[in-house]
Amino acid sequence: MEMLEEILKLREEATASLNLLKTQEDAENFRLQYLSRKGSVAQLFERLKEVPKEEKPAIGKSLNELRNFLEAEFESAGQRIAAAKTADIGKIDLSIPGRKRYIGRKHPLTQTAEEIKRIFTGIGFGIADGPEIEDDYHNFEALNFPPDHPARDMQDTFFVKSDGGKYMLRTHTSGVQIRVMENNKPPVRVIMPGRVYRNEAISARSYCLFHQVEGLYVDKNVSLAELKGTISYFVKEFFNANAKLRFRPSFFPFTEPSAEVDVNCFLCAGKGCRICKYSGWLEIMGCGMVDPNVFKQVKYDENEVSGFAFGMGIDRLAILRYGIDDIRLFFENDLRFLNQF
Ligand code: DAH
Repeated sequence: MEMLEEILKLREEATASLNLLKTQEDAENFRLQYLSRKGSVAQLFERLKEVPKEEKPAIGKSLNELRNFLEAEFESAGQRIAAAKTADIGKIDLSIPGRKRYIGRKHPLTQTAEEIKRIFTGIGFGIADGPEIEDDYHNFEALNFPPDHPARDMQDTFFVKSDGGKYMLRTHTSGVQIRVMENNKPPVRVIMPGRVYRNEAISARSYCLFHQVEGLYVDKNVSLAELKGTISYFVKEFFNANAKLRFRPSFFPFTEPSAEVDVNCFLCAGKGCRICKYSGWLEIMGCGMVDPNVFKQVKYDENEVSGFAFGMGIDRLAILRYGIDDIRLFFENDLRFLNQF
């Protein structure tokens, strides 16, 4: 084939493929094929040596033109590719459905704890907290638990193993009472909300972790009547003015006398259900007058001051308030449950 014809053919072929270039990769392949040092154009230049002398100027000129032309076209193809890429980024597909953003909400236990805090701060209580990993002294000993008390049993307490039983996950928030009295002189009037742990069989009524709000009021001449008045006020404020409650004599090492407080089970309206163990009443807290032995531990003068304490289960209160029949629902994070609050 005549050289001039070949030049023409290469020009047509290269122009056609230039129009098809879409990506940077396409462009690089084109450059390798036509414009690199071993590409088609360079190969034609190589063959200029064999061309008869008199034809050289004309063919040389043609080849130069071809190379300049392809290089210019290649450059504008590169710009076209770069521009298309930027345009793609800004392109919006209006037919794609939008992403729905859900509004978060507070967990029902958080809402319940906040309501309890609101009621007690409203009548002058402050708020304190303490560690969830507690030592034996604060969880038991200072609270007047004799060494052989059944609550110290491995059955109930999760011990932190590596230290030989000195530390545990706190089984109640009562230890915070000790910490508060260690650090403050009387009078003291605080509530202490928090998470507690017990190694109990898991059921609709009990879980291995739950929540309590501890309360402590110490001053001169604090009486049992004030304890009853405070608890009654709380229960009526939290549920409603018609809520029924009863104080049942009970025992706790750190209070004397002690009582447990039951409210009527709203879940079954007193008829009996699995939550109230078919009694119509649900225990929501323990309480009592602070035992003098506890005051001795924290170096309060038990002849000068008296006080009351209480500890209520937040989960129990939430169950009653919202009519939930299984405590485990609070810990499963099922949105179908949580979305209802
Ligand atoms: N700590 C007790 C429990 O977890 C509850 C309790 C009872 C707390 C009587 C108190 C109290 O402050 O006075 O079962």
